[in-house]
Amino acid sequence: MRLLAFLSLLALVPQEAGTASFPTKERKRREEQMPEEGDASEVLPLGNHVLSPDNYDEVIDLSNFEELTDYGDQPPEVKVTSLAPATRISPTESTAAPKTPSSNPTMTRPTTAGLTLSSQPNHGLPTCLVCVCLGSSVYCDDIDLEDIPPLPRRTAYLYARFNRISHIRAEDFEGLTKLKRIDLSSNLISYIDNNAFCLLHALRDLILPENLLEALPVLPTGIEILDVRLNRLRSSGIQPAAFRALEKLRFLYLSDNLLDSIPGPFPLSLRSLHLQNNLIETMQRDVFCDPEEHKYTRRQLEDIRLDGNPINLSLFPSAYFCLPRLPIGCFT
Ligand SMILES: *[C@@H]1O[C@H](CO)[C@@H](O)[C@H](O)[C@H]1NC(C)=O
Repeated sequence: MRLLAFLSLLALVPQEAGTASFPTKERKRREEQMPEEGDASEVLPLGNHVLSPDNYDEVIDLSNFEELTDYGDQPPEVKVTSLAPATRISPTESTAAPKTPSSNPTMTRPTTAGLTLSSQPNHGLPTCLVCVCLGSSVYCDDIDLEDIPPLPRRTAYLYARFNRISHIRAEDFEGLTKLKRIDLSSNLISYIDNNAFCLLHALRDLILPENLLEALPVLPTGIEILDVRLNRLRSSGIQPAAFRALEKLRFLYLSDNLLDSIPGPFPLSLRSLHLQNNLIETMQRDVFCDPEEHKYTRRQLEDIRLDGNPINLSLFPSAYFCLPRLPIGCFT
């Protein structure tokens, strides 16, 4: 907060200089109209510039900071634990949640008073004033969004966590072919148009925990991490063989839902399958292994969680022979 106040003062310096020739009384009156310290919405350093799509990049050229903030290449374990609260977080309690990186102190969130997303629909300009755009990353955490905002074409990483988004429409991500990661944790998403993601060929990480989803849309084939923990997914909301063709899928997190069956078959690439805290009572004997092919092993799939389900795993002794490790769950 101290830093913010300091930046606010810096932003006021040119305006102060400009008032030097006013009579003292007039100047004092103007100073009284100055915003209070720490009111970031009023002291935006861009206040004296007219922003247009043409000069926007010049005014805030942040492309140099991409390396500091694009943490999309870190190991998935890090990313997941950083936003994996043990309990549901309501939007109002989310102030302690991970926010936008603070490595660049000049990037106080550029909230502009009175500017709404719909005032200028094109060029991604209004989105980058309400959200923080750093290189190819767009950070819109915890700003009461109700829809996916119009995004710059080059967006590769979208973070819109802790908002109130309820629907994802087919056109929301249309043409955003560079998107690699979409993180919509802790929203109110209950419905996603079936085609909303399927043409995003660059998409690797689809992060949707703590929403209200009952069904999954068609998934793009390049996906590596799908996180739908803490939703209301039902088995009827997952298409048969929904995951089989996803040959890069490594992490599938479906824990804390309402699934009553294991949604196989799974691609050979899969490493982690989290199904804990669902309603699974039984399993097909061939869901992991091929009963006809006893020499075959499935070395990648080393992390299966079935604890917290009403299933007695001892009843399916022939289901695990190809796995490097038994699933976690009840074997008594
Ligand atoms: C689980 O299944 C095994 C094998 O049939 C059986 O011996 C055991 O009693 C069962 N456990 C429970 C809790 O039902």
